[in-house]
Amino acid sequence: MCGIFAYLGPNEKAAEIVLKGLKKLEYRGYDSWGIAAQMEGGDFVIEKHVGKISEVINLEEKMTHSSHLAMGHSRWATHGGVTQYNAHPHTSEDQDVVVVHNGIFENYLELKEALIAKGHQFRSETDSEVFAHLIEEELEEGFETAFTRACKKVTGRFAILALHKGENKLIAARRGSPLIVGKADDGALFVASDVPAFLEYTKKIQYLDDNQMVTLTEGRAHFYDLETGSPIEKRLISIDWKEEEAEKGAYAHFMLKEIMEQKETLARAINADPELIQKATAMINKAYGTTLVGCGTAGKVAMVGEYLFANVAKKHVNVKFGSEFKSARHFLTDRSLIIAISQSGETADTLEALEIAKSKGAKIISIVNVETSTMARMSDLVIPLKAGPEKAVASTKATTSQLAILTLLAYAVAGRANEGKQLLIESEGKLNDLLNPRYEAHIEAVADQIKDAQDIMIIGRDMNFPIALESAIKLQEVSYIHAEGFAGGELKHGPIALISEGTPCIVIAPNDEYKAEILSNAMELKARGALLIGISPDNAEIFDIWIKVPSVGNASPILDLIPIQILAYKLAVARQTNPDMPRNLAKSVTVK
Ligand code: AGP
Repeated sequence: MCGIFAYLGPNEKAAEIVLKGLKKLEYRGYDSWGIAAQMEGGDFVIEKHVGKISEVINLEEKMTHSSHLAMGHSRWATHGGVTQYNAHPHTSEDQDVVVVHNGIFENYLELKEALIAKGHQFRSETDSEVFAHLIEEELEEGFETAFTRACKKVTGRFAILALHKGENKLIAARRGSPLIVGKADDGALFVASDVPAFLEYTKKIQYLDDNQMVTLTEGRAHFYDLETGSPIEKRLISIDWKEEEAEKGAYAHFMLKEIMEQKETLARAINADPELIQKATAMINKAYGTTLVGCGTAGKVAMVGEYLFANVAKKHVNVKFGSEFKSARHFLTDRSLIIAISQSGETADTLEALEIAKSKGAKIISIVNVETSTMARMSDLVIPLKAGPEKAVASTKATTSQLAILTLLAYAVAGRANEGKQLLIESEGKLNDLLNPRYEAHIEAVADQIKDAQDIMIIGRDMNFPIALESAIKLQEVSYIHAEGFAGGELKHGPIALISEGTPCIVIAPNDEYKAEILSNAMELKARGALLIGISPDNAEIFDIWIKVPSVGNASPILDLIPIQILAYKLAVARQTNPDMPRNLAKSVTVK
């Protein structure tokens, strides 16, 4: 949530470099953007605009100032509306201190009141601006001291960067929100919320952990503990991300590219290191209670996991959404196990759940795409998805990889690891039936037919009930059509009142023991005028539209989801919304 990027180095085009890198972080927030560059002589030039940075034409021409130090921010609004004033960077009263911030300062109102009482005037409605004023208050003690004192005064989760007029230095700190330092061979230094911002310059990185700060001066990055001020030695890590993986290439949108990549990404997940699967299995078998945790789509994957463990391994596991985890503290002990599911590994609600679990001594496994994320670094065991960067806000390839890993684990816990892997290999072999131009064209025609619908309902049973919920998220976030997922049997207890003539209802009907039941639920909808779209290996007389999927047993949640991902994408295109950057959303939700 919010993208931050800064450059300090030999290139005099710092502003342009930041601007280009910021575009690559736009998926983190895109309602406004801004850049501050320090000119020779120490003054700042600040540009702030409402709207998406990628939509500004001739952007490079805007930032031609000669500067070696610049930082930028792409915003997802929390405090204060989407206005130029509220866009970052923010400055102190005298404009000598400039900050960009990701996160929330929870006590900003109280701090702001105290600063106003001292005569400070504020230009924005944001919580972030207080930080620049707090530094200004303490500057007599030097920039570093003022910065650390300001950090100690604010509460909440944050990543914060600050510059001070005339000092060729950048200071950054984190508590809860990601920050990564990049080091290029020519001595250039970068600080960013995520790696793609500087991937074209370097793959050598150092991570900031919570309650740590870094000062960047020419060619040097010094890390410190925020509380004690003691220096910290940081390992330089080489990452194996490929630049082209973070670009959309010939595809119109990242979402479509990432849907199509599932052939490779699923194969990578299925081939997860067997040793890791074994270790995780031993941890699950040893634990006195396992809880799967995730948010949004990852939360729905966790729900599928509960069914998989029940059906395949006859084992009960709990499920909690990250944002609803707190009550679990009453039953967690040092024998409990938490399995965190996440694409980014930076979702604040899931991280908070892990912090609670850790405080109880519980063990943590994370199934995560970003291997070097906070979540991964907090875990006792990490099972990486290896899906490559996922940039579209709507999660697709990471989701199916998470489902595959949970399937492997459920079978391994049942003592049938090879059978599970074989099932997934066979299922992956059938992906060409779904990821081909003819199939895509068929779904595009369905999207055209239903693009003006007010509501779309999705029903499924058992493992495909959470897939119905996940389908609703996909349709909501990119098409903006009201969509809701239900357990097939639940409709008649209330929601069926929503069905009227022509309401599109998607029926997920794999060849499982619930097929007859889900089809009779579909009948109940049809009798009320629903337009039935069947996602099923076989056509049924009651379907108005049939979208064929292969019959793959317990892997059906994975394959059933793919046509719905394509449908969501096609609906977004038909309704002329931007599927990569849906309104009101951001890729990585780093606030609670
Ligand atoms: C997915 O389409 C959503 N954008 C969202 O629900 C997402 O899955 C959720 O925010 C969790 O993110 P994570 O996987 O990075 O933890």
